[in-house]
Amino acid sequence: MFELLKKIKQQNTFAPLATDMHCHLLPGVDDGSSNIKETIACLKILATLGFSKVYFTPHFQAHYPNTEDDIEQRFSELKKKIAESGVEGLPEIAGISGEYRFDANYERKAGEGRLLPLPGKKMLCELSLHRSDYKPLESWKRYIDMGYTLILAHPERYPYINIHSTFVAEARKMGILFQVNILSLNGFYGDAAQRKGFEYIRNGLSEYLGTDIHNLRYANALMETAGNREVKKIMKKYTFFNNKL
Ligand SMILES: [Fe+2]
Repeated sequence: MFELLKKIKQQNTFAPLATDMHCHLLPGVDDGSSNIKETIACLKILATLGFSKVYFTPHFQAHYPNTEDDIEQRFSELKKKIAESGVEGLPEIAGISGEYRFDANYERKAGEGRLLPLPGKKMLCELSLHRSDYKPLESWKRYIDMGYTLILAHPERYPYINIHSTFVAEARKMGILFQVNILSLNGFYGDAAQRKGFEYIRNGLSEYLGTDIHNLRYANALMETAGNREVKKIMKKYTFFNNKL
């Protein structure tokens, strides 16, 4: 582990991104990190990989009935505990936001309730990974009309969406931005997501990259991904907007 960390440190592969805007490291909140120890260990690895700033984006969906107030409170408690722990060398914990699910079971109505967007009124959204019957564009339009910029998380992971679909064309026309998961590029979610991940990036259809890190298993996979030659090429060749957040 130490040798691997040392090697990756020299690589610093994701330093050009600077900011990770998609992670599940709020302990015990959703399917992410289970305790503060794991959160700190993951943050250390993110720093080693080159991230200097992190936004937490816990799930808002039917399966995890979080409220913005509760999430915000847990976030400030975590920040306090990390500060008290005296651990150094972590990325800046820049803010709390959410990954908002739009599906048949859960749809936040635009204008109802408080949201936790990323800076610049940006809202990270996801769809069902399996069910294609829900059509999000109408609902998304309402958010856009309210001044939000929507970022669709991991478009490459939805088996029913492909880059040449009408859905992608319409979403892009509406101004929806895309965020490919870094781990997709190393085959973490299978061959199709890997192929599609590269495809979105190479076609200029991924403004952001995210780790979508949940726990140490993801952290280890990210370290491996940092050594992937094709991923390093992507980092050199393409520009992403992460560092504007
Ligand atoms: Fe996520």
